[in-house]
Amino acid sequence: MRTLNLDLGDRSYPIFIGHNLLANKALFEPYLRSSQVMLVSNTTVEPLYAAQLEQTLSGYSCDKVVLPDGEKFKNLETLNLIFDRLLSQRHNRKTTIVALGGGVVGDMAGFAAASYQRGINFIQVPTTLLSQVDSSVGGKTGVNHALGKNMIGAFYQPQSVVIDTNVLATLPDRELAAGLAEVIKYGLIADATFFQWLEENIDKLIARDSDLLAYAIEVSCKTKATVVAQDEKESGIRAILNLGHTFGHAIEAYQNYNGWVHGEAVAVGMLMACDLSQRLGWIDISLVQRAQRLIERAKLPMIPPSTMTPKDFMAYMAVDKKVLDGSLRLVLLKACGKALVTSEFDSSKLSETLEKYCC
Ligand SMILES: NC(=O)c1ccc[n+]([C@@H]2O[C@H](COP(=O)([O-])OP(=O)(O)OC[C@H]3O[C@@H](n4cnc5c(N)ncnc54)[C@H](O)[C@@H]3O)[C@@H](O)[C@H]2O)c1
Ligand SMILES: [Zn+2]
Repeated sequence: MRTLNLDLGDRSYPIFIGHNLLANKALFEPYLRSSQVMLVSNTTVEPLYAAQLEQTLSGYSCDKVVLPDGEKFKNLETLNLIFDRLLSQRHNRKTTIVALGGGVVGDMAGFAAASYQRGINFIQVPTTLLSQVDSSVGGKTGVNHALGKNMIGAFYQPQSVVIDTNVLATLPDRELAAGLAEVIKYGLIADATFFQWLEENIDKLIARDSDLLAYAIEVSCKTKATVVAQDEKESGIRAILNLGHTFGHAIEAYQNYNGWVHGEAVAVGMLMACDLSQRLGWIDISLVQRAQRLIERAKLPMIPPSTMTPKDFMAYMAVDKKVLDGSLRLVLLKACGKALVTSEFDSSKLSETLEKYCC
């Protein structure tokens, strides 16, 4: 097992990564404040892994709420199911929420923890690769509103994150690839050596080599933890974690959040960000080609949906939350492993990128 620490002063917490951690009581006990525990999961993950976790937490009074599965249920109505259960079972301020699931469960359970009785303890047990390398770390919690994704939420850090790589065995191939998109992102924005390691090992990662997956998760979490420790509330550097996301969010919104999964949209978005960075003269064409090859080998899409036009992109990107004072801010690359957030770029080059990708 490897242990990382997210350093946020008195809100610092450990991130445990390894095999078979769901069975390790010692990873949970120190973070429970009383005998009360509320397990939050969904209809897909609960039948697979809840019994194991309940066994590990034997001796505690472990309640459970099982949410419907899907991004479309990430809303206030579903959130209320968690509050209903907490209140009807008389959970007090010393109870602990344990989130067992992907990013949707983790974001909702985290927001419930942030707001129930003004804040209770919370442990993340992420079960998708995406949630293991991204959403479970860093404290962004929340739900969607009909008028915008993740628009209602809070920054609220967990007490610990328990990443058991065994659970990836049941993850659908498409979800594994989507998680790899975020893993590739960390190489591009912060770690050229890791990017090269990914080029050497991507086939084994796709084949679910568990030791290599654990290593990729560790490097990814380390990068995320380092960035979040510098800028918890995203007033600056944390925004580099959004490489490819402004283009990607446009794709997701265009499809009404009902088409590709998030990591697939981010994969294409990263290629578009690389293309634009190269047109601006900031990176070499060889890096664009390396990113393309890696995304392709990870079995991720490389172009936007065929019906999408540059106008569609501009319309959706204009409402993306990274537009500040009317100017579009993008995360772009200066080199492999070096990203910056900027609104200072030649917009005709952006048009060229959009034209190239919407053909
Ligand atoms: N908080 C953050 O910083 C942050 C960062 C990135 C993404 N997110 C959010 O995360 C969400 C996406 O998360 P996701 O990609 O994990 O999607 P998800 O939670 O919808 O999970 C994807 C699918 O895999 C299933 N699943 C989960 N674990 C499984 C397992 N071990 N075996 C089999 N099936 C399993 C789920 O039930 C679901 O059907 C989005 O709502 C996004 O906004 C949040
Ligand atoms: Zn993402």
